[in-house]
Amino acid sequence: MRTTTTGRAAPPRLLFLIVLISSAAAVAQAAAASPVLAQMALSECPAKCGEVDVPYPFGIREGCSLNRRFLLECNTTLEPPELLLGNIHIQEISLEKGLVRVTLFIGRDCYDQQGEKLNRGNMSTNVTGSPFSISADHNKFVAIGCDTLAYYVASTADGYASGCASICRDEDSVTNGTCSGIGCCETAIPRGLQYFEADIRSYHNHTRVWRFNPCSYAFVVDVDRFTFFRANVSANYAYELVKLPAVFDWAIQDSSTTCKNGMPCDRGSSACRSDNSGWRPSNDGRGYLCACSPGYQGNPYLSRGCQGTLKLLHGSRPGCSARSGQSIARFIQLPIAVFRIRLFQRKLLCQKRFSKKLYVITCLVSLKI
Ligand SMILES: *[C@@H]1O[C@H](CO)[C@@H](O)[C@H](O)[C@H]1NC(C)=O
Ligand SMILES: *[C@@H]1O[C@H](CO)[C@@H](O)[C@H](O)[C@H]1NC(C)=O
Ligand SMILES: *[C@@H]1O[C@H](CO)[C@@H](O)[C@H](O)[C@H]1NC(C)=O
Ligand SMILES: *[C@@H]1O[C@H](CO)[C@@H](O)[C@H](O)[C@H]1NC(C)=O
Ligand SMILES: *[C@@H]1O[C@H](CO)[C@@H](O)[C@H](O)[C@H]1NC(C)=O
Ligand SMILES: *[C@@H]1O[C@H](CO)[C@@H](O)[C@H](O)[C@H]1NC(C)=O
Repeated sequence: MRTTTTGRAAPPRLLFLIVLISSAAAVAQAAAASPVLAQMALSECPAKCGEVDVPYPFGIREGCSLNRRFLLECNTTLEPPELLLGNIHIQEISLEKGLVRVTLFIGRDCYDQQGEKLNRGNMSTNVTGSPFSISADHNKFVAIGCDTLAYYVASTADGYASGCASICRDEDSVTNGTCSGIGCCETAIPRGLQYFEADIRSYHNHTRVWRFNPCSYAFVVDVDRFTFFRANVSANYAYELVKLPAVFDWAIQDSSTTCKNGMPCDRGSSACRSDNSGWRPSNDGRGYLCACSPGYQGNPYLSRGCQGTLKLLHGSRPGCSARSGQSIARFIQLPIAVFRIRLFQRKLLCQKRFSKKLYVITCLVSLKI
């Protein structure tokens, strides 16, 4: 601003624009500095289970979730309290990303030195009838062992199965950090999987590798949170239950209110209750997720859940309507802009470098808005 006042008679229209832009930027900065504290659960409903946030459409009390599918359990007799879906422990729910972080038990197949089976725990996960599916983007099916054939049966109905084998003779051939078939193998998971069971087998009951590898393991794991180490081959979890992090996708699915590709037919029948919200396909393609329009934050599933941040007023994502939000934002912004123009005008007059003509023009312009 200072550079324009010392310059020689800059065109008034340009000056006006500069004032408007700088004051809009100031408003945006102020808004960004104070985070929006939007309500995340229905009123009168618990918004947390222990330390874990439970945002609507999820709920932990009858009548507090979108429907029964989104009703989770909070076991408060445990210390700390645990958020559960059946026996699956939920550690974090993300509305924005459409993901939840969970922990899942690993499957094992352990033997003694003589090749007698010690313990066998198939790992099965069944989230049929829930909003969840095992995220194909974030997880892999991993098996660990040197006498190991592991596969997962994805659905009992169509007999879908996939898996991998890992064979090795000695510990030295197993390398840290690489899960490529020697001591560790991995395979991808199909999108939208809601039920699977890992089946672990061995060729020689681990008799040839027992001194360094008594068990085979198989599990679904978040690849970002799992690194394979040589030491994992030697681990003996025959009498220990071990859990590892995994990621689920979730989706709103409602065949009575959705049209093409599981997307809502219209705004009114969708679960996107807030103004300034829209929808997008869920990560697993089974349904949809709601999102606040650009420049808004909060919970799109609650009426008035999306709160303006005035940060990104321009441009809107496809499928999201930001129109009414923009007019509200302008309504707030304009008085501040006008105030700033008045201050600027006073400054101009004091400096006496500008003609009265310029003052009149900026006055007219500020009256017009
Ligand atoms: C909570 O967990 C404990 C220990 O696992 C169990 O005994 C109890 O039945 C659980 N409570 C509920 C309400 O599920
Ligand atoms: C593990 O899965 C296999 C194959 O599906 C089955 O035959 C076996 O009984 C299961 N074992 C346990 C302990 O559930
Ligand atoms: C998975 O869960 C659904 C719903 O609870 C149930 O109907 C189905 O039988 C279960 N499948 C298996 C293989 O246990
Ligand atoms: C494998 O990684 C572990 C843990 O970082 C380390 O202690 C070990 O020395 C490594 N072994 C090899 C062969 O690199
Ligand atoms: C592995 O053990 C099973 C029973 O536990 C036995 O029937 C089978 O013959 C054994 N196989 C080998 C190669 O030792
Ligand atoms: C694998 O080994 C590393 C290093 O010893 C350890 O930190 C990690 O917990 C092990 N993972 C499993 C699944 O046992």
